[in-house]
Amino acid sequence: MTITITPLSTRFGAEISGLDITRPLDLATNAKIRAAQDRWGVTVWRDTGLTDASHVAFSRLFGLVELAPRHQGKPPRFSEPELFDASNIDADGHIIDNAMRRLINAGNRLWHIDSSYMNVRSAQSLLLCHAAPPVPAPTLFADTRSAYDDLPQAMKARIEGLTARHCYFYSRMKAGYPTSEEELDRMPHAQQPLVMEHRASGRRALYLGNHARDIVGMTREDGRALIDELNTWTTQDRYVIEVDYSTGDMSIWDNLCTMHRAGDFDDTAYARDMRRTTIREAGVAAAEDHFTTMFAASKRVAEG
Ligand SMILES: [Fe+2]
Repeated sequence: MTITITPLSTRFGAEISGLDITRPLDLATNAKIRAAQDRWGVTVWRDTGLTDASHVAFSRLFGLVELAPRHQGKPPRFSEPELFDASNIDADGHIIDNAMRRLINAGNRLWHIDSSYMNVRSAQSLLLCHAAPPVPAPTLFADTRSAYDDLPQAMKARIEGLTARHCYFYSRMKAGYPTSEEELDRMPHAQQPLVMEHRASGRRALYLGNHARDIVGMTREDGRALIDELNTWTTQDRYVIEVDYSTGDMSIWDNLCTMHRAGDFDDTAYARDMRRTTIREAGVAAAEDHFTTMFAASKRVAEG
C-alpha cells in the first residue's frame, strides 16, 4: 500500500489516502503517518471503515490513549473507555433536549484546544464520524504555528515567557452556561505557556483558545484583551481550513499546533454521532484517569 498525501492548503492540513487503517500497519508506515501528522498538523481520512475498537487500536500509533472522563450517573454509550462522546445524542440514539447539556456542547463551537485546561496536555485528537447530519457540520481548524510565525516581532517579544490560566468552565461560561467568575475561581485551572515549543516539528506555536481565562501577572481586563487579540489573529481565514464528514470519515489534529471549533448546524434537528480518542503529550506523566478527577472536582464546586 502506498500512502498518498494531498495538502488541503499550502501550509496546513492534508488528506491521506491509500491505506487500510482497520488493520495493524508496519513500522515504516506508522512512521510515515506520524511524520505527515507532525508536518501538516491536521490530517483527514475518508471512509476509514473503523469501528470503536479499531479506532482505539489505530490511535495507539501516536502514543498513550487517554481514558475519557466518566461522569457519575451517566453511563457511557461505548464499551471502549478511551472514547470521548462528541455527539449530540443520548444512549438510546435520541437527540439530547436537555438545555444545560446543549449549553455545555455549545462551548465546542468556540475556538479551543482540547485539554488545554489540564496540567497534562493532549497532543492528537482523532475524531471519527459514525453518523453525519444531512446538512454541513464541519470542524474548523486553525494553524497556530503559521499564526505564530507571522506575528509582528513586537508581539512575539511581548508574549515571550507569558503564562495563561486555562479553565474548562470558562469557555462554557462564554458560550452561555450559567456560572460566575467566583465559581470559576474555585474550579481547577491549568497554567500553560502562550508560546508552545512544538517539539515534533521544531517550530513554535501559539497556545490559547477559549479555555484561556487569564494571563498570569496581568489584570483580568488586560489579560483577556491580549487573549482575544491573539485568538482573533490565529483564526483569520488565511490560517483556517474546514473539514466536513460523511460516515466513516476521520480527522486527526495535533492540539499542540492547532486550534479548532465545531461548525454551526441545527443540533436540535439533526443527530451527529462523533467519537474521539485523545493522545497524551509524549513524555509527560499523569494519573491514568485525570479527566474524571478534574470533572468531578468541578462538579463539586458547581454543586456548592
Ligand atoms: Fe474540541
